[in-house]
Formats: sequence, C-alpha cells, structure tokens
Amino acid sequence: MNDAQLMALAHEYGTPLYLFEQTALRDRVALLRECLPARAELCLAIKANPFALPIIRPYVHRLEVCSPGELNICEACGTAPEEIVLSGVYKDEAMVRHALSLGDIHRYTVESRAQFELLRRLAQEVGRRLPVLLRLTCGSQFGMDAADVRELVGAFGNDEWIDIYGLQQFSGTQKTSLRRVERELARADELMGDLTEAYGFVCREFEYGPGLPAEYFDDPDPAAERAFLESLGALLDGMAFQGPLTLEIGRGLTACCGTYLTTVVDAKTNQKVNYAIVDGGIHHLTYYGGVMAMKQPPVRLLEAAEVVEADEGDKGDKGDGGDEEELPTWTICGSLCTTNDILVKSLPVRDMHPGCVLAFDRAGAYCMTEGVSLLLSRELPAVILADETGTTHLARPHTRTDPLNTPNF
Ligand SMILES: Cc1ncc(COP(=O)(O)O)c(C=O)c1O
Repeated sequence: MNDAQLMALAHEYGTPLYLFEQTALRDRVALLRECLPARAELCLAIKANPFALPIIRPYVHRLEVCSPGELNICEACGTAPEEIVLSGVYKDEAMVRHALSLGDIHRYTVESRAQFELLRRLAQEVGRRLPVLLRLTCGSQFGMDAADVRELVGAFGNDEWIDIYGLQQFSGTQKTSLRRVERELARADELMGDLTEAYGFVCREFEYGPGLPAEYFDDPDPAAERAFLESLGALLDGMAFQGPLTLEIGRGLTACCGTYLTTVVDAKTNQKVNYAIVDGGIHHLTYYGGVMAMKQPPVRLLEAAEVVEADEGDKGDKGDGGDEEELPTWTICGSLCTTNDILVKSLPVRDMHPGCVLAFDRAGAYCMTEGVSLLLSRELPAVILADETGTTHLARPHTRTDPLNTPNF
C-alpha cells in the first residue's frame, strides 16, 4: 500500500496496527519458486505469523505447527489435517490426541525417543499407522543425535505403527551463511546414506528449515537476494538425496508482508535530545538483531509534507531552497515504562508532532508475537489483512491485555 492508503488505514482502524498484505506473500513465494528446486514444497512455520494463514494458504503446501495453541489456530482457520506437519520440542499427549482427532495429519516430527514412544503408543491405541520424520539435532535441545536416529530406524524401520518417512533438520533462524547450510545438508546426506547402507532403509522425504534471512537494517538488494536464493537452490539440487523435499520457512516467507503503524502521541526535548513518544513500542515490534535501536529499522514518517526522504536525490538534507539544512533528529520511544523501549534513534524529521504516523516495514515475521506484550497491560495492536485485491479485513481488533493480568481473587 502507498503512504496515503496507510494513512487512511491508520485513521479508519486506529493505531497501533499491523497490516499484512497478500500481494507481498504472493510475490515472495513466486521468487522462491523461481530460485529453489521444483521438487521443494513450501511449508510455512506458522509461529512466524499465524495471522498470515488465510492469505498465504493458496501459495504453500503445508503448515508447520509446534504447540497446542498453533493447532487450535489451524483448526479455527479450517486447515485440513493433511496440510499439517505437527512438530515441536514438547508434544504432550493431549496435543497428539487432539491432532489424531482431526484426522490424518501429514507428518509428525519426532524430537526424542520419548516422543517416538508416545506416538507409537497412541498409534496402536487408535489403530492407525502414523507418518513421521525423525529430527536430526544440530547441537541444541532440538532433535536427536544421529546415533538415536540410527537405532530407531534399525528397530522400527518396518514398524506396524510408525511409518518413518525420513529426516527433519532445522538449526536456527536468520542464517546468512551458505557454508553452514552446505554443512548441514552434507550431514543429512551422510546419515541418509548410512541408514541405507546399515538397514537398507531408504528415506522417502527430507524436511529442511534453511532459516532464510530477512534484511531488516539495510536497503533491500533484490539482485543479492536472488543470488543468495539461487545458491541455496544449487546446494539443495546438489544433494545426494533426490527425493521429495520440504522447506520449512517462517521469516523468509512472511517478513516482507508486514507493516506496523504507530502514532506519535507526545514530542519533547530532554537535555537537548528530542524524544517522540508513540502509542506502540518494543512490545509490538522486534527486529531480529535490533536491540535498543542500535541499528536503524526500516521506518518512515507517513505525513507526505513532512517525509524527509520523499524525493529521489533529495535524501532530506536540504531545505526547500536547496540549501543544506540540518534537520533535527528524533529518538522514537514506545509507551512502556522502561528506558529500553526505543524503536528508532536519530531519525531526521523536520516537524515532529503528535498525530504523525510512522510506518515500519518488513514487520511480517515474529514482530507481533515476540514482544513483551503483557508488560504494562497495554492493548494489543489491531491486525488488518489485505487480500490480493487490496480489500482490507479486520483480523483482530485492538485487544485489551489487562484481563490477563488481573488477579481473579
Ligand atoms: C523447527 C522449525 N522449523 C522452522 C522454523 C522457522 O524458522 P525461520 O523463521 O527462520 O524460517 C523454526 C523457527 O523457530 C523452527 O523451530
């Protein structure tokens, strides 16, 4: 949406708000499809943005679900069980039973021997063979050692109750190193080869989370981005494993679709520093790697007359007459009672005043869930979805959190 449309949205729904746009998701998926191998199916890790479900659904094959709450969200959105990969380091019996009650879940991931036993016991109880992927650890609390994977395949490779399809692997988010990806793929290839050699077991699927990075603090560079994705595609193409591949992606699918709008509610100068206080804050907006606004997030002021970087070639350093003009800079702070609540430092703005609306881009992944939402019992922002035609839908109204912090005593 352009700035005028964003302003209209801010007035219609009130700020703070998130806007998630379907056209951005469509274009993003199209780019991934162009650069990644055709055999790679896309699976959205819904933790990155559960609100994106209705607008990303046409473009991805699967949804990765990691908690009872996420499973409820999928159910509420009418997700078919065949579209769900049930994952997560903690799968309790109630969650697995809920999943079983929904129907044939596409895959269950297995993070430990205990999870394997739980799934096998429940499979036996309901009389259904469950399709699983064994998660290979990358040296954290997630997944299992290769030795455990080998033993499970050795013992249950042809099991009546558990159908082992293959491996899952995810090591972390915002991975900018293709060398690291290469090493991870090599480890998976090696293990899959071992399983065949030792047990005649052939993996029928590999699910991989590449931890695709999003650029938050520098200007987007489409050529570099494409080159990165093509290199990732080449690494996947180069794997010894040439069977069905699923890529679990959160940030790299959804970061691009989000804009966060917040309004200036106060402006003042304390000890020669200009502060603008906004109605949002760090409880609504977190950019990976952006602690205490040490890096400049993708932010702009919406009021057309006051936008500093409105024209190409005029980066805002000049006044109307073309003379050098040093603009005052502003520190943008949120509405929490903590000095940590700084969204932006040194933003040059000619005329900052209450009522100005700031737009933060690339706010489509994790921003809306990773903040300290309950601090100060402030309201949660509204969430607006814009479909492919640009029509907007209120996906969540401004929501009070004080009931969650009120002692019922
Ligand atoms: C198992 C798993 N897969 C995929 C993802 C998504 O990661 P990203 O948002 O970096 O794509 C996560 C994120 O925590 C995860 O835990």
